[in-house]
Parts: sequence; C-alpha cells; structure tokens
Amino acid sequence: MPIVSKRASRRADSPRSERLPPSYNIAMQVGLDHFRFRLATHADIPRLTALIDASVRGLGRQAYSPAQIEGALGTWLGLDTQLIADGTYFAVEPVADPAVLAACGGWSRRKTPYGSDHRPGRDDALLDPRSDAAKIRAFFVHPNWVRQGIGSRILALCEEAAHAEGFTRFEMGATLTGIPLYRHHGYIEQERVELPLANGESLPIVRMTKSA
Ligand SMILES: CC(C)(COP(=O)(O)OP(=O)(O)OC[C@H]1O[C@@H](n2cnc3c(N)ncnc32)[C@H](O)[C@@H]1OP(=O)(O)O)[C@@H](O)C(=O)NCCC(=O)NCCS
Repeated sequence: MPIVSKRASRRADSPRSERLPPSYNIAMQVGLDHFRFRLATHADIPRLTALIDASVRGLGRQAYSPAQIEGALGTWLGLDTQLIADGTYFAVEPVADPAVLAACGGWSRRKTPYGSDHRPGRDDALLDPRSDAAKIRAFFVHPNWVRQGIGSRILALCEEAAHAEGFTRFEMGATLTGIPLYRHHGYIEQERVELPLANGESLPIVRMTKSA
C-alpha cells in the first residue's frame, strides 16, 4: 500500500485530477523522497523508450489525436541519446522498484531544440551561454506518477545545471500537454509551431521561454 503524501491527498479532491482518465487518478501517490533522480545512462535506453511510449500514448491523447501521436512517436517525440552522452538527461526511478522508470527529462547545451535521434534537421552545434538559451528537452512522466511534482523536480535540476554552465535563459518546444507545467514555472508562450508528420498530419507545439 503506497504512502499517501499531503500533496497527493490534496490532489484527490482537485478538479484538475478529474481531467485525467480514471486509471490515472489512482496514480501511485507517494512523496518525492520515494523517487531517485539520477543521470540516465545508455543502459537505460530500452526502459526510457518504453517509458516515453507509455507517457505519450497515455497522456498525449488529452491534446492530440491518435494519428498525431502515432505520427510523432519516434521522430519529434522520442529519445535523444545525445543528451545521455552529454550527461544532461535525468532518469527517475521509484526507490521501491528501480527496475522501472517513472520519468525522464533533460536539458541541452546544443542547438537541436526538440525531437528524438530520428527527427529531421538536427543541429548538434554547441550553444553560447552568453547569447543563447539552454534547451529544456524531452520531459516524459509515466501516467502512473503524474501530478506529484516529478516534472517540476526534473525542471529545477535542469535549470540549476544549465545555470551552473552560465546560461541565463531557457527555452523549449512544449507539447500542448506540457504547457501547464512550464507555465506553472514561469515560462511564457512565444509562438506556435506546426511540426510536419510523415503520415500527413502535423503536431502543434509551442515555443516557451524563461529568463533566470
Ligand atoms: C507534462 C508532464 C511532464 C508534467 O509532469 P508532472 O510530473 O505531472 O508535473 P508536476 O506534478 O511537476 O506539475 C507541476 C504543476 O504543473 C501544472 N500541471 C502539470 N500537469 C498538468 C496538467 N495535466 N493539467 C494542468 N496543470 C498541470 C500544475 O500546476 C502542477 O501543480 P499541481 O499538480 O500542484 O496543480 C507530464 O504530464 C507528461 O509527461 N506529459 C506527457 C508528455 C509530455 O507532453 N511531455 C512534455 C514534453 S514538452
């Protein structure tokens, strides 16, 4: 029986939680100290891929059609292994069950703003912290563990790490499902971008920015 945190107890009555499919409202509601936040390694790749798939299929449908989700998975929405190689991608494990991953997310000192290894038009050139914004990249929480502050904790870790390298501005291409998290942390919507998908659909995302 999971320990229910104050935050989780409060959420049980929250109108927002009612927007999630019923199965997600019984998310494993435990405190953040029940999770281990660490840098992802290449050994995590199979579990990261499965996590991203579950997150996008489970949560993405709140804003995107099945065709958009299928068209975007593996190209615009997916794993960028350059972030693992750079040591800028976090994996989150439940302490009680480190065999599964609850979430992932990271940041980048490189120009590619979003997307997986297989997105078109990658640019892995380094950013200049004096003039460029660090990229906040690829946040995915498993549907079982949403709205417990995990995304927020990863975001804080990313901002701290980027700030330590001299970045004073952050930006991301937010999915429509990601906007409330980033808005909650002071990011401002700048422009909507339609990413073309191979199946003829497009995926709307929003560029969001924040100054440290
Ligand atoms: C977006 C996502 C990463 C958020 O992760 P999370 O761990 O659930 O976020 P947090 O618990 O830290 O949320 C912090 C705050 O952000 C806001 N927020 C987060 N998700 C929200 C939602 N679905 N609806 C409304 N507000 C939301 C709330 O203000 C929340 O605080 P509260 O729960 O006390 O009300 C997660 O929903 C997800 O993985 N979505 C699918 C993949 C995706 O779209 N990723 C973003 C890529 S850019």
